[in-house]
Amino acid sequence: MAELEGLEFGKSDFVLLDEVTMEQFMDNLKLRFEKGRIYTYIGEVLVSVNPYRQMDIYGKENIDAYRGRELYENPPHLYAVSDAAYKAMKRRAKDTCIVISGESGAGKTEASKYIMQYIAAITNPSQRAEVESVKNVLLKSNCVLEAFGNAKTNRNDNSSRFGKYMDINFNFNGDPTGGHINNYLLEKSRVIHQQDGERNFHSFYQLLRGGSNEMLESLHLQNDPTAYVYTREGAATTTSNNDRTSHKAVMNALEVIGFSKEEIDSVYQILASILLLGNLQFESDGESVQIVGLDAVNHVSELTDTDPESVSKTLLHRTVATGGGEVIDKGHTAEEACFGRDAFAKALYERLFGWIVSRINSVIEVKDYNPVLHGKNTVIGVLDIYGFEIFDNNSFEQFCINYCNEKLQQLFIEIILRQEQGEYQREGITWQHIDYFNNQIIVDLVEQPHKGIISILDEACLTVGKVTDTVCLDSMDTKLAQHPHYTSRKLSPTDKSMDFQKHFRIRHYAGDVTYSVEGFLDKNKDMLFQDFKRLMYNSANPVLKEMWPDGHLSITEVTKRPLTAATLFKNSIVALVDKLGCKEPYYVRCIKPNEVKSPMLFDDARCQHQVAYLGLIENVMVRRAGFAYRQPYARFLQRYKMTCEYTWPHHLMASDREAVETIVTQHGFQDDVAYGHTKLFVRTPRSLYTLEQERAALIPILVLFLQKVWRGALARMRCRRMRAIYAIMGCYKRYKVKAHFWEVESRFANVRTMADYGKSVEWPTPPAALSQFHNITVMLHRRWWARQIVKNIPPSDMLEVRAKVAALTALSGERKDWGLSRAWERDYLSNVRDCPQTSSGFIRVSKELRNKDEYSQVLFSGFCRKVNRFNKSTDRGLLVTDKYIYKLEPKKQNKVLKRLPLDAFTGMSVTSGVDQMVALHTSAQDDVLLSLQRGELCPNQDRVGELVGTLVDHFTRIRKVQFPVKVCRSAVQIHMRGKPKNITVETKAGQTNADFKKSRDGFVLLIPAN
Ligand SMILES: Nc1ncnc2c1ncn2[C@@H]1O[C@H](COP(=O)(O)OP(=O)(O)OP(=O)(O)O)[C@@H](O)[C@H]1O
Ligand SMILES: [Mg+2]
Repeated sequence: MAELEGLEFGKSDFVLLDEVTMEQFMDNLKLRFEKGRIYTYIGEVLVSVNPYRQMDIYGKENIDAYRGRELYENPPHLYAVSDAAYKAMKRRAKDTCIVISGESGAGKTEASKYIMQYIAAITNPSQRAEVESVKNVLLKSNCVLEAFGNAKTNRNDNSSRFGKYMDINFNFNGDPTGGHINNYLLEKSRVIHQQDGERNFHSFYQLLRGGSNEMLESLHLQNDPTAYVYTREGAATTTSNNDRTSHKAVMNALEVIGFSKEEIDSVYQILASILLLGNLQFESDGESVQIVGLDAVNHVSELTDTDPESVSKTLLHRTVATGGGEVIDKGHTAEEACFGRDAFAKALYERLFGWIVSRINSVIEVKDYNPVLHGKNTVIGVLDIYGFEIFDNNSFEQFCINYCNEKLQQLFIEIILRQEQGEYQREGITWQHIDYFNNQIIVDLVEQPHKGIISILDEACLTVGKVTDTVCLDSMDTKLAQHPHYTSRKLSPTDKSMDFQKHFRIRHYAGDVTYSVEGFLDKNKDMLFQDFKRLMYNSANPVLKEMWPDGHLSITEVTKRPLTAATLFKNSIVALVDKLGCKEPYYVRCIKPNEVKSPMLFDDARCQHQVAYLGLIENVMVRRAGFAYRQPYARFLQRYKMTCEYTWPHHLMASDREAVETIVTQHGFQDDVAYGHTKLFVRTPRSLYTLEQERAALIPILVLFLQKVWRGALARMRCRRMRAIYAIMGCYKRYKVKAHFWEVESRFANVRTMADYGKSVEWPTPPAALSQFHNITVMLHRRWWARQIVKNIPPSDMLEVRAKVAALTALSGERKDWGLSRAWERDYLSNVRDCPQTSSGFIRVSKELRNKDEYSQVLFSGFCRKVNRFNKSTDRGLLVTDKYIYKLEPKKQNKVLKRLPLDAFTGMSVTSGVDQMVALHTSAQDDVLLSLQRGELCPNQDRVGELVGTLVDHFTRIRKVQFPVKVCRSAVQIHMRGKPKNITVETKAGQTNADFKKSRDGFVLLIPAN
């Protein structure tokens, strides 16, 4: 129930009328019309009155105001209904349709255009190019279809002379992806004849008035509609639209839609051919019939890309099968030739129109659609079909059009009235039955098999021999005499508004219509000589050829009678009604306020008539008594269960119905609902709106909740995966470790028995985790290996080995040659091989010293060159024991010159070179500086390493004190009597023995060059 409008505008929903009477209804409708409110609701049905003036209610602000809003949130509008249809489609993925009905000139086509415009405006917010192009073609197609399918009639300057049902396809996003147009029965008789005051289709006038001179010239036309028989009658009538500008718009629309230049040319060539055909005259000389003026024939043949001879022949003859497979040419009478020409012109136009529609369809059809990929493809159908019409002279077309309106009314009744009441009954809702006029009886009058008018017409068409329209009328009179909705002059002889043998009358739901039976049979047969079809099929123009596929059959092959026009139309309308029936319908009921296209005049009688036949009063009654909204309990619960704590996420009640009751009571609108057997009925949309709003507010919270749960699930999954990864990694690591152990074990299994105790065995590369362990095991193995080696060394060699190890550590690789490879004899002065002349003397002296000083071991002895603080250098014997270091005079039987206690020494310095210089540091800073001399045993080998190793081993192992050894790369620092001295080493050519020389700050040891 729409609100938001002041009361001065009347009731915006007829349901709100104080009393549902025709009087109140009309008062409200009139008041609103006069106040410029052309739209009013009956629940969800929109009643629209043609304003006959431009209204400022279709702009962008209006579109924004209606976008996504509920019906009752804004004043009634076409946009609100469009939005409701769109929302229903999007929310519930349901196909919907908008059925626009009303008589000719009531505003159906305008309404359909505004609907399209609205849908185009609210979709594709992301401006995707392919969607924009679909929308563009859909919008542009209107212009083309109106040019070729609309004409000025006495009822409407832009009357649709065809029915149009357009499906718009949407993807799951709600954006249009394509569409399809179905067209119904084009009133093609208009091509050859129009009633007084009417015009042919707009396209002809647009071409003749708007086409450029060159274009017209190439089409052999002049820019004057009065020059052509088919357009002459309508040429003088004025219309509100401008043919010239429309022509431009159509040409542009054709291009935008995607018609090629050749196709556009073909379209206009066909139009020109029709106009030229219309001007063809035939004359008879009594025997044969001739065409007057062959120029026109040549032009037609040129425009249709056919051979001129064939054109003339087809216009003047027809091929007849004689039976037995033979064919003969039969000449036409002048009358037959005219009939043939007109039938050809009509067929050309009809097929052209059909082809244009199919060409547009080929552009907008949904391509590459894959339901799995693109989701459900939903549809909004918009039906704009010719309205119910009554002319002075009503013919076959009006009969068909009015039948179509009966069918649509039937659908409306079916859905809005009968189904609605039926549902209340089924659901056990207390309900007061409302009577309404059911027009099924009229539908049956027209379409019932055997008895209906269409059947009688078809029968007459099938009958061989001369069956005329009047014979057919007689047959109808006989068969339908008892029908309450059928009459004729014969059946009501007093009714002078009908003629004998000409008129019959049907009492339609919308009023009585008197039809003239003249031409009914011809129009129903819709006969076109086969020769024309073949002529067009053989055209060199591919577009024409495509329009006439049935022309490929030869005359002997054409056996089956085609379906009649009425039956074809009936079938297409039945299919249409079926199609609409399975969609959720939205209705726009258009009312024409007056006959004179006045924006001011509200013709009460006319309007009341329309309100009555459209069944609007009954509609209000049903609606008022009824419920705006219904839904099975389960569905209702599913949608709104989050709005109530007892039903979210699951209810514990006995049934869904109880749960629904809980929701309803919680929201306090229990008085606004009724409980059916399976469905809940809600009377006013407001209640539902409240629920929708609450739901909309909760959805983001639910989304967050779902996100939370899902994120949690994802995290748990990730965690499980990580755990699995770590478990696998753990197993693998353990395996790698074990594999390493096994490998080590297998490689080193026999090391005990190996000659080198496994020194040459290569260690396998350990896994990273075992690198420390590996280092330790390598070390352990080395130690073990060393122990094995050491174990085998005889105790006598141990001292030497220890000394060598100590030297190795002390020199730490700084000194290249340190005598490792030779045997360390230690006591060289007593060694007869090293000092053959002096050894015996020294042995004696050392024995005396041992007795005297009680040392137990000689650590080292040998000759050396020594320098003292007075810069005097002399040869001396050096004896190092575990107690003292002695300086001996070799020249005086090794007399002891000096005896220094061993514990006075704190460390020593040597160089990294090959010299034999040794500085022994004392705690008293009176260091001993000497250069060892090599004896006979090892004249070229180093003795410094031996002295270092022996001393270090003795100090660290026996005395348990550190004995630091400094290996100097350049000068050696010493002190003599506390004074610092710098000792350097130089090689000197010609020097035979190493000797000290005083230098500026100490001494320099000169050594021989090699
Ligand atoms: N909403 C509107 N605003 C302004 N003018 C309108 C409106 N609706 C209809 N009209 C006017 O009424 C004329 C007839 O409307 P329209 O062509 O839509 O009628 P129709 O119901 O389609 O008729 P037919 O059945 O003959 O095709 C339009 O050309 C236009 O001038
Ligand atoms: Mg129309």
